[in-house]
Amino acid sequence: MKILIIGKGGREHALAWKLSQNESVTKIYVAEGNPGCELLPKVACVKLHKIDDLLGFALAEKIDLTIVGSEELLVAGIVDKFKAHNLRIFGPDQNAAQLEGSKVFSKDFMKKYGIKTAAYESFSDYAKALKYLDQVNYPIVIKASGLAAGKGVIIAPNRDEAEIALADMLLERIFGDSGNEVVIEEFLDGVEASILSFTDSQVIIPLISAKDHKKIGDGETGPNTGGMGVIAPNPYVTDEVNQAFIRDILEPTLRGIQSEKMDFAGVIFFGVMITKNGVYLLEYNMRMGDPETQAVLPLMESDLLELINATLDKQLALFDIKWRSGATCCVVLASGGYPHKHPVGIDICGIREFNAQGCYLFAAGVASKQNQLVTAGGRVLNIVAHGSDLSIAHENAYNAIKQISFDGCYFRSDIGKV
Ligand SMILES: Nc1ncnc2c1ncn2[C@@H]1O[C@H](COP(=O)(O)OP(=O)(O)O)[C@@H](O)[C@H]1O
Ligand SMILES: [Mg+2]
Repeated sequence: MKILIIGKGGREHALAWKLSQNESVTKIYVAEGNPGCELLPKVACVKLHKIDDLLGFALAEKIDLTIVGSEELLVAGIVDKFKAHNLRIFGPDQNAAQLEGSKVFSKDFMKKYGIKTAAYESFSDYAKALKYLDQVNYPIVIKASGLAAGKGVIIAPNRDEAEIALADMLLERIFGDSGNEVVIEEFLDGVEASILSFTDSQVIIPLISAKDHKKIGDGETGPNTGGMGVIAPNPYVTDEVNQAFIRDILEPTLRGIQSEKMDFAGVIFFGVMITKNGVYLLEYNMRMGDPETQAVLPLMESDLLELINATLDKQLALFDIKWRSGATCCVVLASGGYPHKHPVGIDICGIREFNAQGCYLFAAGVASKQNQLVTAGGRVLNIVAHGSDLSIAHENAYNAIKQISFDGCYFRSDIGKV
C-alpha cells in the first residue's frame, strides 16, 4: 500500500509517523515534505506542488491513498481532479472546501442551518461596510473572506481601526482577491478550543479536543503566529461544553452537509469560542490543523489508516476510535525573530539523535545542507510529550527540548500552563 501526503510541515510529519505504523503500508511519499519526515523508515519526500504534477505522480506511482494536509489545494479542487481519475483521496471536494475557503460562504451556511455563531454581515462595497460601522459595538471583528494564511482577521478596538482594516482589505486589497468580500462580525469573549473531527457525510465523529497557543509570547502576549504550541485534551472542553458543542454546532452542521448534498470523506476542524453564553463556532477548517495534529495523533490508539479507510468507505459510524489516557503537550521551537524577519540555514543539533521516553519530534521548517539539518522557516520543530496528566506532559516536553539546539532557538515556556 502506497500513500501520498501533500504538505510539508509538522502536521504532515505527524501524519506520516502515524500512518507508517500500519504494516500494510509499504511506502509513504510526502510532497514536498521536509528532511525530518525522511528519518522515518518508509518515507520519502518528493518536490511537487502543482495539482497536475501531483496527479501525474499519483497515477505513475499507483498511489493507493492520498491525504491533503493544507487548505490551498483543497480549495483549488484537488479532490475532484483525483477522483475524476479514480484515485482514492481523503478530503472535501471543491464545493465542501468552501466551508473553509470562503468565510462568507461558511457564515451563510451557519446562519441557514441554525449553527451557533457570532452575528455578522458581509460586504464587498466599502461605502456600505463603512455605513454598517455606525450600528456596531466595539471591539468588532473584520475578516477577509478568502484564504489569507491566518492573517486575514482583524480585531478592531474602535471605529478608526475598523475603517483602516476595511480600507486595507476592500480598497488597498492587501489580501488580493481574498479580500474582495469581508465579514464584519460581533466580538465574542471567551476561551478557544480546536475540535477536529472525521466525517463521511453520514456522521461526524469528534477527535480529542485541543488548545492552540497562537501568540508569540508567554501569557498569550505579542503578535499572532501560526501556533507556538498546543495541548490535548483542551481542559476547557468539559462534558457540559461538549454537549453544547454537539447540540448547537456539530449536529446542525451535519444536517447542513446532508441538506446541501455535500458528499465527501474528510476532516472538519471546528474552531470554537467557549463563552458564558454558550459555545460558538468561529470557523471551519476542512483539514487537520497544524500544530493540533501533532498533539492529537500521539493520543490516538486506533490505527489511522483504518480510520481513514472506514471514513472513505462510509463505515465511520461503526468505527470506535480508541484513545490513550493522559494528555499531550506540543511545544514549537521557532527561529529567533519569528513571526517577523528571521534567519534561516542555521545548523540544528540533536534531531537525528532525539530519543526521549514518550516524546515525539515532528519537523517543520527544516532543510538539509550537505547532510546537515538546518533551519528553513519560522516554526522549525515540534516537540510533543505524552504524560499521565497535563503537568507531567508539560514537564516531559520541556525536558526533551534540552536535547535540541540551534542558534536563536525560541519557544514559549508556558505551553500547557493553563
Ligand atoms: N467573533 C470573534 N470574536 C473574538 N475573536 C475572534 C472572532 N473571530 C475570530 N476571532 C479570533 O481570530 C482568530 C482567527 O479567526 P478565524 O475565524 O479562526 O480565522 P482564520 O483562522 O482563518 O484566520 C480566532 O482564532 C480568534 O482568536
Ligand atoms: Mg482559525
